[in-house]
Amino acid sequence: MMSKELERARAFEQEHEAVIRAEDRPGFHLSARVGWMNDPNGFSYYKGQYHLFYQYHPYDSHWGPMHWGHAVSRDLLHWSYLPAAMAPDTPYDGGGCYSGSALELPDGRHLLLYTGVAAEPLPGEERRRQTQNLAFGDGLNYEKYAGNPVITAAQLPAGGSPFDFRDPRIRREADGSYSAFVADDTDGGGQVVRFRSADALHWERVGVIAENRDRIGKMWECPDLFELDGAQVLLLSAQDMLPKGFEYHNGDGAFYLIGETDAKTGRFLEHADYALDYGIDFYAPQTVVTPDGRRVLIGWMQNWDTCNLHTPSTPWFGQMSLPRELSVRNGRLYQAPLRELAALRKDEVQSETALPDGGECRIPGVSGRMAELEIEIEPVGPLFREFSIRFAEGGAYHTALNFRPQESILKIDRKFSGSRRAIIHQRRAEVRHDGGRLKLRLILDRFSAEVFVGEGEQTLSAMLYTDLAADGISFHADGGVRFRLTAYRLTPAM
Ligand code: FRU
Repeated sequence: MMSKELERARAFEQEHEAVIRAEDRPGFHLSARVGWMNDPNGFSYYKGQYHLFYQYHPYDSHWGPMHWGHAVSRDLLHWSYLPAAMAPDTPYDGGGCYSGSALELPDGRHLLLYTGVAAEPLPGEERRRQTQNLAFGDGLNYEKYAGNPVITAAQLPAGGSPFDFRDPRIRREADGSYSAFVADDTDGGGQVVRFRSADALHWERVGVIAENRDRIGKMWECPDLFELDGAQVLLLSAQDMLPKGFEYHNGDGAFYLIGETDAKTGRFLEHADYALDYGIDFYAPQTVVTPDGRRVLIGWMQNWDTCNLHTPSTPWFGQMSLPRELSVRNGRLYQAPLRELAALRKDEVQSETALPDGGECRIPGVSGRMAELEIEIEPVGPLFREFSIRFAEGGAYHTALNFRPQESILKIDRKFSGSRRAIIHQRRAEVRHDGGRLKLRLILDRFSAEVFVGEGEQTLSAMLYTDLAADGISFHADGGVRFRLTAYRLTPAM
């Protein structure tokens, strides 16, 4: 039976989405149906469709008691909303249905494993406990398991936190059993604890597979562990990071550990750690495997430190990143825009342009806020100091991507994007280039920009709130430079 909380959320979203015009949303990135969206949840392929749930507060464009929003797609670009899947409506999740994951059970049911935040703190405690819970569904309606919670803090190793214990990532093992990787906090920061189960209902602890030990931020959230191209990859999102050179930035950020699994202990043996995105807005990603075997990642395109500064009247807030195909090369994770994106291309323009020192240009046919640009930059002479692409340009507005080869720095700068808040406007990444030669791919979708560097070894993602009338694109040089461009306009998928 549906709770009154879920019934209310479903009625509310149906009524209020009608006021949002398709043109005021991203054209091919999933955004909140109404109200607020954060983390992707339960990203899975089930009965011929991708299901993407999300952290959802339908009643307000700011974070609030978490529901699970729900959307489906056949190609990861054309999304349709389904009614909200879960509302906070029980003693164990009345404080919020936090992030989690999904899979198809052998009997054909869709299983969600998620974090419940208790409706009330226990007597004598200030904070509410977090537990792991199940819901079973058919792709449309989900029923919470009568035996919830299925994993509690009593099953944590000594020193674990019952208040920061969340974001279970479930997977089915080759022998038919289940594993769940759950984030938890300790004195030394986050850790990932593995649990196992024969039936997905009864869980026991296996052990800690990775721990922070005060290295990368504090609490770790949203683990996702998978094998790819012979390596083990553990995705995590760290709270409260300190910068480490150009690798990590202040605040919360997604990163990955790359390594192998110790066959004896089951622990994750790290070889290296890297940021997952070097831009401003990217967090809490999850992956899915497509029927043809690609590992595809989607993240939340926002930043926890600045996401609550917008005006309350916005009817929706929060969107996902582009789906990104992952691969491992040379000990690093590479990201490429989902290849299906090519189906949205139109109006191809190809050009090759040399810009003198101080030169700038526009290319006929290259403009728009839904566009894809592939650019190959090449120095002309030894004085090449900077190449910039300005986009979402018009009147006083533009956002810039600046490449400075002498410093090997690629910077995204949205300070002239029309923002009137003291949010973060710039981020720099140290990039690999060949004597000033660099390949960039830029994808714009109305309010977002995503940059893929080189073959995708780095990405930079940022939201821009610039008036959609600002749709110019221009190119600027400091020192002689030549660039080859292939550009497309992209058609909306929704
Ligand atoms: C990450 C996160 C998760 C949590 C959810 C709450 O962005 O903090 O750890 O489950 O958001 O909305």
